[in-house]
Amino acid sequence: MNILGINAYHGNASAAIVCDGRLIAAVEEERFNRVKYAAGFPAQAIRYCLKAAGLTLSDIDHVAVPRNPYARIATKLFYAMRMPSFARERIKVLAKFTGIPEALANAFDADSKKIAARFHRIEHHQAHLASSFYCSPFERAALLSADGLGDFASTMWGTGSGSRMKIDGVVAFPHSLGLFYSAVTQYLGFLKFGDEYKVMGLAAYGQPEQLEALRDVVRFDARSKGNGFTLGLDYFTHHRTGPEMSWAEADKTPSLGKLFSSEMEKRLGPARGPEQSLEQRHRDLSSSLQARLEEVYLGMLKKLAERTGLKAVCLAGGVAFNCVANGKIFDETPFEQVYVHPAAGDAGLAVGAAYHVWHQLLGKPRAFVMDHAYWGPEYSRNDIRQAIDSSGLARNGCAIAELPEEELMRHTAAIIMEGKILGWFQGRAEWGPRALGNRSIVADPRRPEMKEILNQRIKHREIFRPFAPSILAEATAEYFEKSHPSPFMTLAYSVWPEKREKIPAPTHVDGTGRLQTVTREANPRYHALISAFRDLTGVPVVLNTSFNDNEPIVCRPEEAIDCFQRTQMDALVLGDFLITRG
Ligand SMILES: [Fe+2]
Repeated sequence: MNILGINAYHGNASAAIVCDGRLIAAVEEERFNRVKYAAGFPAQAIRYCLKAAGLTLSDIDHVAVPRNPYARIATKLFYAMRMPSFARERIKVLAKFTGIPEALANAFDADSKKIAARFHRIEHHQAHLASSFYCSPFERAALLSADGLGDFASTMWGTGSGSRMKIDGVVAFPHSLGLFYSAVTQYLGFLKFGDEYKVMGLAAYGQPEQLEALRDVVRFDARSKGNGFTLGLDYFTHHRTGPEMSWAEADKTPSLGKLFSSEMEKRLGPARGPEQSLEQRHRDLSSSLQARLEEVYLGMLKKLAERTGLKAVCLAGGVAFNCVANGKIFDETPFEQVYVHPAAGDAGLAVGAAYHVWHQLLGKPRAFVMDHAYWGPEYSRNDIRQAIDSSGLARNGCAIAELPEEELMRHTAAIIMEGKILGWFQGRAEWGPRALGNRSIVADPRRPEMKEILNQRIKHREIFRPFAPSILAEATAEYFEKSHPSPFMTLAYSVWPEKREKIPAPTHVDGTGRLQTVTREANPRYHALISAFRDLTGVPVVLNTSFNDNEPIVCRPEEAIDCFQRTQMDALVLGDFLITRG
């Protein structure tokens, strides 16, 4: 039985395909159309998923769409009456959703009447929860999804057991931890969709001086019986003007309208404009924002643990990308095991919706664990060879060699050890926003200057944003204060104080690292590269950042070569080919 999951007309448009309970492929549309967080209809992602499964549209039995227009219909109608412009926007989006069978047929030049698949509408947060629980190794777990907003809710929790999930509670519009984080991110002058990461990085440079003020912006009672929180709505505008995400038709870039009100400025001082310099009070506010998010998020998780008595938790939703908060779960709550879906944001809904149909609706037993994130396109030796040949690399004086595995690893590790910057392109592209050793830029973690070099020469991004370490899983406890697996870079742990000077480049200013624990089973070649680097240097860690320069992560070998040529990378490995600048 074949199930196609589609996240369409929403940021992070994506597709996934599940055949007889096994995930075959999952990918974001942005990797193909090269627009970061692209919304719209993910025709190319769907096409790739079908191809990877060796199927055509007529072989699909079920199509799962992570949006249910009837969820919380009374709340929707209430707000639609108060906000006519918002109602108009919703009707437009709804019209698009009801037209998904037609959009699918159009994209494939098929007659919509001939698509035999049954269409299912899965509520947004149930799809988030499904993406995490049904991909986790846990038979039983507590579940929490938290994001900006989806189907008029921002937070949902419950429990999972075998192939069933039970929903216990929800926080509905207009209250939202994700929108709280986005509103303060906007206030701090970071206006682009997805800029919340920047503020999480900035938080480590400040003190939570404004924590008390933010306790009034998000209200949460850690001692009350109920879970959930409320926003101090005077500080916000979305409950008056509508929170709907929109996107530019031309390039599918999503955006959110202004979320904070003048009350926020009265309480916290004037907002920062995007061009204004960053002052200490901005760093302190970032720190306060992070501190308040942690109080509420970890507070909810603690209640969830206490109420369910479960030791494992599955997380999804954009807030679950807060690796700093996730790293504190072990100390602040009774949970001992954590699973975060690698595409915890809305891309992951495509996988979640498909598995929701397979387990929750069809009652099929569990037989799949997502223990790696390599579900995207891959390219053959021939594809790579052709991309190299037509690139002009040789004409431009680059040395190109095809090497056997062991030699390739030794040479490449030596290049990293010499302080050079390496583009590393292998196998299937990663699912989710983190490069995890198949589309990565890799560098020497021992050099404190590497952060600046990478920022100046390759990444062109804010200096305060940290880089991440990839560590051999078996060495985690030597370098980090915690060793619970973090295969998808969704947890940040403290680096042991005596190890910080060994890996200064991917250690953040607060002594933490958003680590990727690498096992031989999940990624044998990346494990071999880090092992070769350890053999040369004694350090089982490399610095890993995504293979891109202010664009979606590269997908095809041509894009990797283009990024290599555009930036000042020193060497590039594509499959078995090693390319070095002359
Ligand atoms: Fe979401």
